[in-house]
This record gives sequence, structure tokens and C-alpha cells, in this order.
Amino acid sequence: MDTLNKMKKILFISIALGSTLMFSSCYYDKKNEIYPQALTTTCDTTNSTYATVVTPILNTNCNNCHAASVAKNIGANIVLDNYTSLKLYVTNNSLLNSINHTGGLTPMPLNGPKMNACDISKITAWVNRGALNN
Ligand code: HEC
Repeated sequence: MDTLNKMKKILFISIALGSTLMFSSCYYDKKNEIYPQALTTTCDTTNSTYATVVTPILNTNCNNCHAASVAKNIGANIVLDNYTSLKLYVTNNSLLNSINHTGGLTPMPLNGPKMNACDISKITAWVNRGALNN
């Protein structure tokens, strides 16, 4: 084999090896496929505002008993469907204690399972940022 042919062979092998390496190292795993849990445990609390996040959660889990229209009969007169009234229960900590089942309060939702951790985190984040009427 002459030198030129040897060079060609070496060049060819280098290119073949190089591209194999290139493509194999470009392979990447999709996080969601490897860790299906990761998606469900990700909880975005950054945009937890009163109107867009807190109110819908309370409407779903609490206001069937704590809306002003029914609270007197089935919600111990505790009204959670308007900001001013809700703020009272934020300030005396009973909102967070009741949903976290802490502090010796009656656990909420009454006679139901604890709310999911993400909903609790979203409400907590809103409280920690000052429970604004936002
Ligand atoms: C099925 C009706 C019902 C639902 C749903 C419900 N509550 Fe209540 N809640 C009550 C009743 C009745 C009381 C009074 C309980 C007591 O005095 O032991 C109460 C009490 C409370 C109190 C005062 C706790 C205390 O011991 O001072 C808070 C705060 C509260 N609820 C928040 C919530 C929140 C937040 C939710 C939703 C996550 C919720 N509730 C869901 C019926 C309900």
C-alpha cells in the first residue's frame, strides 16, 4: 500500500470514528421519560396570586362550605370566598394550620382528604409573600 492510500485509510477511519462519537454523544435522555415522577412532583408556586390561584383552589376544596351564602349553615360562619374575610384566617394562622392539619385545629377540608401538596404549597407561597389582594 502506498503512502497516499494509507493516509486515505487513516482519514476514513478517523471520520468514521469521529462521527460515531459525535452522534452518540449527542444522544440525550428525556427527563420526563427517565423520571416520570419529576413531572408530577414539580410544583410551580411563582405565580400564586389571590385571584388566579388561591381563589380557584378554595372554590374547589373549601367554598362549598365556606362561601358566604352557606357558611352560616355548614361552614361554622367562616367565610373564605372574599379577600377581606379570608385575610382574617391568614393573619391568625388558622388557614395554613387547618390545611396542613397542624396547630390542633379541625383538619380541613372537613371530613375529606388533605389537599394535595402542590395546592398547599401554592397557598403557602401566597401567604408568605404577604397574602396580597393580587
Ligand atoms: C364539608 C364542609 C367543609 C369544608 C369542605 C371545609 N370546611 Fe372548614 N370548617 C367547616 C366546619 C363545620 C368548621 C368548624 C369546625 C369546628 O369548629 O370543629 C370549619 C372550620 C374551619 C376553620 C377554622 C378552624 C378552627 O379550628 O378554628 C378554617 C380556617 C377552615 N375551616 C378552613 C377551611 C379550608 C381552608 C377548607 C378547604 C381546604 C375548608 N375549611 C373546607 C366545614 C368545612
